[in-house]
Amino acid sequence: MPCYLCPLCGEPLHLHQSAKSYHCQNRHSFDLAKEGYLNLLPVQHKHSGEPGDSKQMMMARREFLEAGFYEPMAKAVAMMVDAHKPMRLLDLGCGEGYYSRQIAAQCGPVALHGIDIAKVGIAAAAKKQPPARFIVASSNRLPYANQYFDFVLRVFAPSNDDELKRVLKPSGLLLIVTPGPRHLWQLKEFIYADVKEHAPKTILPQGFERLTEQRISYKITPNPEQRIALLQMTPFAWRANESVQQAIKEVEGLEIETDFILTLAIKTAA
Ligand SMILES: C[S@@+](CC[C@H](N)C(=O)[O-])C[C@H]1O[C@@H](n2cnc3c(N)ncnc32)[C@H](O)[C@@H]1O
Ligand SMILES: [Zn+2]
Repeated sequence: MPCYLCPLCGEPLHLHQSAKSYHCQNRHSFDLAKEGYLNLLPVQHKHSGEPGDSKQMMMARREFLEAGFYEPMAKAVAMMVDAHKPMRLLDLGCGEGYYSRQIAAQCGPVALHGIDIAKVGIAAAAKKQPPARFIVASSNRLPYANQYFDFVLRVFAPSNDDELKRVLKPSGLLLIVTPGPRHLWQLKEFIYADVKEHAPKTILPQGFERLTEQRISYKITPNPEQRIALLQMTPFAWRANESVQQAIKEVEGLEIETDFILTLAIKTAA
């Protein structure tokens, strides 16, 4: 069963005998990059020149994650995946592939796929984990065959509900990680005069039913550079001007609460 669909005409893509490119019956062709990933985001579907994180932001994110600050959550994700023994898993908005690597390290055999709109993240993910298959694409137009996956993971990333449902098999599983009420509270105190809690319940796409929910919260003490890397991973980073960033760096022994909600849901409708 072909995995990818041509982003230009929707026909299945086939690997060329050279194993260096994919093509469809309408002769649209896509080369594998030297890192092993495939770019299936045609220019006409891009809304900005190079969407997503810059290389520097991606590297900061990787360093922060690899320092282990989110490891308890990543381990819980991998445990949930392993408990269900999926055959094919899609990491939606996978960034630089941290969770895919955790899953490979902790779970039994599973074909791992990752997509992100940011090319720098995908290139870094593919380079570090050759057995997994990473593509540049938008979650609004997933270039995968219908019902190709039996598990979709979405960690702090946007998705298009219809597309997500389309690529999942009937009774396929969706694991969503969202920020819990007090996630990064102490970091937000530098930015907002009146910090508000996140909603405690994750909103599920239509056609899914909640199976389990797990809340994981603990404190971390990143160093000044790691605090800035963490800040840049958040949607409120743009609000932190130079002086706010300076204040975040200078305060001594800053403890920051993490708070994650892991929601496992099952696809119940087509
Ligand atoms: C907050 S990051 C989370 C990344 C990763 N899952 C993690 O937790 O480290 C959100 C990710 O979604 C990606 N993203 C944003 N819009 C997207 C879209 N329309 N399609 C695919 N990925 C998208 C970004 O490039 C970024 O890597
Ligand atoms: Zn085509």
